Amino acid sequence: MKLWGGRFEEGPSEVFERFGRSIHFDGRLIDCDIRGSQAFARALERVGILTAAERETLVSTLESIRVDAQNPKFLDGLMDEDVHTVVIRMTKERAGAVADKIHTGRSRNEQVSLDTRLWVREEIDRASELLAGLMTALLDCAAKYPDAVLPGYTHMRRAQAVLWPHYLLAYFEMFSRDFERLQQARARVNVMPLGSGALAGSGFPFDREAIAKELGFAAVTNNSMDVSADRDWALDFLYAASTIMLHLSRLSEDWILYSGEEWGWLELGDGVTSGSSLMPQKKNPDSLELIRGKCGRVFGELNALFVTMKGLPTTYNRDMQEDKEPIFTAADQLNASLEMARVVVDSAKLHVEKPAAAAEDSWVVATDLAEALARSGTAFHQAHQIVGRLVLESVRNGKKPADWTAEDLVKFDAAFKPEMIALMKPSEGMKTREIRGGTGPATVAKALATARERLASFTK
Ligand code: ARG
Repeated sequence: MKLWGGRFEEGPSEVFERFGRSIHFDGRLIDCDIRGSQAFARALERVGILTAAERETLVSTLESIRVDAQNPKFLDGLMDEDVHTVVIRMTKERAGAVADKIHTGRSRNEQVSLDTRLWVREEIDRASELLAGLMTALLDCAAKYPDAVLPGYTHMRRAQAVLWPHYLLAYFEMFSRDFERLQQARARVNVMPLGSGALAGSGFPFDREAIAKELGFAAVTNNSMDVSADRDWALDFLYAASTIMLHLSRLSEDWILYSGEEWGWLELGDGVTSGSSLMPQKKNPDSLELIRGKCGRVFGELNALFVTMKGLPTTYNRDMQEDKEPIFTAADQLNASLEMARVVVDSAKLHVEKPAAAAEDSWVVATDLAEALARSGTAFHQAHQIVGRLVLESVRNGKKPADWTAEDLVKFDAAFKPEMIALMKPSEGMKTREIRGGTGPATVAKALATARERLASFTK
């Protein structure tokens, strides 16, 4: 069965049929397609195309297909053109001639927009829940080691000491913005297109608001040509997904490093690491490497749809059928990665003495010292020079911050005060950073508590 054909003398070639067919991927939309058609049957009744009995037959027939389609093998081996064709064919097989009315005043161009919006909306809700789960895990991991000190890096060189919760809260911020981006994408997805027809608006006076309400949409679209042409809402989702993957890939990279022998800070659970087939000692962070790797695929899907849409003439073009696989792949990879990341975070143990030693071993206290000098009246530029010389001398003589005494410090430069020796401990200088957003211990404790509240407000 085809939804078109009267105008043709010959049928499509086997090659074209095979080439144009989308059922093997857009079959995933079947549940959304059916729910959309059930709402549309009610709209057809309201405009007098269907009687109440006909509507009832169609809605219940569609429901029986919807239930059967929950069997994952349901679509195996089907040769229909696309998911819309399958649903109409089966409705006809089960309900008879009344099915011939279901597509009155409707185009697949708006139908595919409706189905995919419904599908993406559900995936956004799933991703949002998984993201909130990961954020909970990060806060739990932060709370386990409230006082742990580590060197923060710039240029991949030890820079200044920070608290472990401060580091994890940086990711909490990234993921909070991601959560917002998902909700913003959802708002653009959540607009009801039916009634647009192929491009010019339907020839039947459907109550579009009623359809929207039935299907849980917040609004209806404003312009039929825009509906037929638009995939911005899919790009919004792909961008939100890409940003989450970007953040996940950076967290993965950090933790791959921090759990390696050179750092030795983190121990990842046995359950999220794997061994080598050759080297018996290996414990590889494959889960994190895969997340980092899948990030590239999701970016690729965003790029793929951008390139597909670029320069397409107004309105619908068959090119747009190529939107489905990018959306499906990105959603699958995103949700799988979020689920995986949470399990990794839950499994991780921090060996607090290792990052603490890394901080003490290096000169992450240098800025604290220079700022102390500036506070006691030395101009910062001079203070920077003095501490720079202190570091140079220490490096030359193999001296660590802890090797200095108050006496030696004052002897090195009279600008130093004996009490500044306390700042040779990385955890001391942090206490000067109680500015909002800083790594001061009291500030971080408060930020952690606030983060919990913010997360609770996201998920309610
Ligand atoms: N399978 C098509 C798609 O995904 C549905 C719309 C077909 N419309 C058309 N005019 N051929 O885009």
